[in-house]
Amino acid sequence: MRVLVAYSSKYGATRGIADRIGDRLRDAGHEVDVERCDAVEYPEGFDAFVIGSAAYMSNWRKEARKFVRRNRELLEQRPTWLFSSGPLGTARVDKDGNDVLVGARPKQFEEYEDELHPRGTMVFFGALDPDKLRGPHKMLHWMPENDALPTGDFRDWDAIDAWAEKVAAELAKTPA
Ligand SMILES: Cc1cc2nc3c(=O)[nH]c(=O)nc-3n(C[C@H](O)[C@H](O)[C@H](O)COP(=O)(O)O)c2cc1C
Repeated sequence: MRVLVAYSSKYGATRGIADRIGDRLRDAGHEVDVERCDAVEYPEGFDAFVIGSAAYMSNWRKEARKFVRRNRELLEQRPTWLFSSGPLGTARVDKDGNDVLVGARPKQFEEYEDELHPRGTMVFFGALDPDKLRGPHKMLHWMPENDALPTGDFRDWDAIDAWAEKVAAELAKTPA
């Protein structure tokens, strides 16, 4: 199957996850393009879609939201999976005992689940390198330590591989 992995990434963490998903899908025999959401020229040429964005302030980035809006009909008709790259740190549950990955689901997922009926949605831990921050995000440097976001690379490659392999296996069962 021809699969498009389309991503939106501000500082590169989500791009890394998209590349990795692309590699696993290729390993499984699919033909895969990994492209930025705003650089996709001919989405109609793909049989299936994996779309991912970093989450900022609980929202997917604008270019990913635009991609979904522009291609809504296509995504409704073809197998589609969504992923978000979000929470930082090593804690799996928050101070109230809630699953961090559930709490980090971007606001758009509920709407997209209703409208696109994706085959799956997933949240992965992300990464934050303070030296890369630009614009208003730089202010994070001056935040009191308690409020500051954890910095480091928390991407869980095993979880990413496992999810991508599941997507690949489901695609293999899907008639072209
Ligand atoms: C200002 C700021 C706000 C953020 N807000 C959220 C958020 O609301 N939810 C979340 O899960 N992650 C949040 N993050 C973490 C990023 O989503 C995470 O670092 C992500 O992996 C970055 O991906 P990118 O490098 O592809 O942009 C935030 C990070 C920054 C710097």
